[in-house]
Amino acid sequence: MASAAWAVLQVLLLLPTHTWSPVGAGRPPDCDAPLASALPRSSFSSSSELSSSHGPGFSRLNRRDGAGGWTPLVSNKYQWLQIDLGERMEVSAVATQGGYGSSDWVTSYLLMFSDGGRNWKQYRREESIWGFAGNTNADSVVHYRLQPPFEARFLRFLPLAWNPRGRIGMRIEVYGCAYKSEVVYFDGQSALLYKLDKKPLKPVRDVISLKFKAIQSNGILLHREGQHGNHITLELIKGKLVFFLNSGNAKLPTTIAPVTLTLGSLLDDQHWHSVLIELLDTQVNFTVDKHTHHFQAKGESSYLDLNFEISFGGIPTPGRARAFTRQSFHGCLENLYYNGVDVTELAKKHKPQILMMGNVSFSCPQPQTVPVTFLSSRSYLALPGNSGEDKVSVTFQFRTWNRAGHLLFGELQRGSGSFVLFLKDGKLKLSLFQPGQSPRNVTAGAGLNDGQWHSVSLSAKWSHMNVVVDDDTAVQPLLAVLIDSGDTYYFGALYEQSCEAHKHRGNPSGLYYIDADGSGPLGPFLVYCNMTDGTPLSWWVGRTNETHTYWGGSLPDAQKCTCGLEGNCIDSQYYCNCDAGRSEW
Ligand SMILES: *[C@@H]1O[C@H](CO)[C@@H](O)[C@H](O)[C@H]1NC(C)=O
Ligand SMILES: *[C@@H]1O[C@H](CO)[C@@H](O)[C@H](O)[C@H]1NC(C)=O
Ligand SMILES: *[C@@H]1O[C@H](CO)[C@@H](O)[C@H](O)[C@H]1NC(C)=O
Ligand SMILES: *[C@@H]1O[C@H](CO)[C@@H](O)[C@H](O)[C@H]1NC(C)=O
Ligand SMILES: *[C@@H]1O[C@H](CO)[C@@H](O)[C@H](O)[C@H]1NC(C)=O
Repeated sequence: MASAAWAVLQVLLLLPTHTWSPVGAGRPPDCDAPLASALPRSSFSSSSELSSSHGPGFSRLNRRDGAGGWTPLVSNKYQWLQIDLGERMEVSAVATQGGYGSSDWVTSYLLMFSDGGRNWKQYRREESIWGFAGNTNADSVVHYRLQPPFEARFLRFLPLAWNPRGRIGMRIEVYGCAYKSEVVYFDGQSALLYKLDKKPLKPVRDVISLKFKAIQSNGILLHREGQHGNHITLELIKGKLVFFLNSGNAKLPTTIAPVTLTLGSLLDDQHWHSVLIELLDTQVNFTVDKHTHHFQAKGESSYLDLNFEISFGGIPTPGRARAFTRQSFHGCLENLYYNGVDVTELAKKHKPQILMMGNVSFSCPQPQTVPVTFLSSRSYLALPGNSGEDKVSVTFQFRTWNRAGHLLFGELQRGSGSFVLFLKDGKLKLSLFQPGQSPRNVTAGAGLNDGQWHSVSLSAKWSHMNVVVDDDTAVQPLLAVLIDSGDTYYFGALYEQSCEAHKHRGNPSGLYYIDADGSGPLGPFLVYCNMTDGTPLSWWVGRTNETHTYWGGSLPDAQKCTCGLEGNCIDSQYYCNCDAGRSEW
């Protein structure tokens, strides 16, 4: 077991976009004013505080009030410090410091951000997918310029490591500037039609820029028709952005030269993504989230002969006010510009160039349901169950690229056993472990590791276990067992079920199922965890004979090669050519 590094479950995972060249970040100059120091104490909150003088309101950089900084009640990895900037701001830098005159400082941390304070996204630095290296003493300031910057109202600092001879202690500052945001909300049955002032006689450079936040994974973002079958369409399909361009001649089918370009993945994560389309003659630059793809449309003419109408959010059917030819977009567009014209501004002012179809509004609603992303193999989510009932009933949705990994673990009460819901070879499996009986399993679904959302419903009552995945139901009669639901469900990386993790939760010494390698080849096995002293009794040994008492540690990786992301692997069953076991790749 030289390497126990396996990614487990990544519900909602953002793929690294390494195959495209980055373009310069368009940040306004001088966007580095301190934003946190002027905020009232009530704008700061935290997971906990050691005492009232260690509260989050004392976490402003270089201040010495209170105990000289924020310190949580206990120093562990479940603590956070949050700032509410009052409105969405452009954030260009962060700085941290330890608690004044103390031995409390944070040596590494993660940064999360959010529009509404519920749906969080981890900030990823370009040079490193890991967190930020923090402080090495209480008073010097460690400053990071954020490349790229981001826009958010809420920020969270999550300490990962701290001075071993002290506690978590933080003072922080956030730098940035005001962010101009014009949003338009499409409910999935609406569109906005923009009529250009006049049709230019000769081709000009067209520039369309926008940001989008998608609630549904499919829908038209923009569409422009032309003569002779020319058209450009930007559509979100299964969370990917697809750019269609047809510069051919519809009357001559053989010369139709459609170009289809797909960029990004899992873009329907209810976070903002930016799009820039630059067209000149048949040259196209297509940029998604700072990654540009350049291509040239082939066809009869040397330029695209497009109409002077462009629609956003849907493609209206000519002559019919509320009918759309394709699925419309459900979500928000922000800062929508066409050749420098603020289209949202025109729509708000009911200018005659704009035709609104369906219900178009100018604020972006906060999401009703929020996905939880398991960025590392060590993250999991513990939710309360209905303790003491004679049935188990859980429903949730997930998505992942991983063929194997754990989804849910639940312990039944009074030693009546435990159950595990996991993916294996892209199928969903449920195992029920009960004392004195061999594990009983059911399997449902297939190909579930396709990056799309799948809904799962699990129920167990009397002598039946029932799993439904999408439309596939698996029922298995069981030996008569008495179900007694436990009080907690654990979602995500199950191999956190190390002795250490059980100990963390205050469980007593005893027999526990431990899955040492997560989604690896080993199944869970029963071990005795001795909780009486600080040294965990189970570990694994690395290549250089070092002992590890943690499990996993894999990168929050896409688990896919470029061909897998682009869907052009030699064998479409695999996400890497090397996986297909062929000789050529
Ligand atoms: C595409 O980008 C390149 C490099 O930035 C630039 O030289 C070119 O003019 C761009 N093309 C269009 C159509 O904007
Ligand atoms: C239009 O959308 C707004 C905001 O989403 C909503 O409050 C309103 O009820 C909708 N109106 C109709 C007629 O659907
Ligand atoms: C059920 O799955 C477990 C692993 O989770 C395995 O050890 C066991 O053999 C399986 N039982 C049956 C009857 O397939
Ligand atoms: C647990 O560990 C403690 C301290 O190392 C030891 O004294 C005790 O005997 C252990 N218990 C068992 C059951 O191994
Ligand atoms: C690891 O330990 C084994 C057995 O004790 C030994 O043979 C091997 O040389 C050690 N490897 C390293 C890299 O120290």
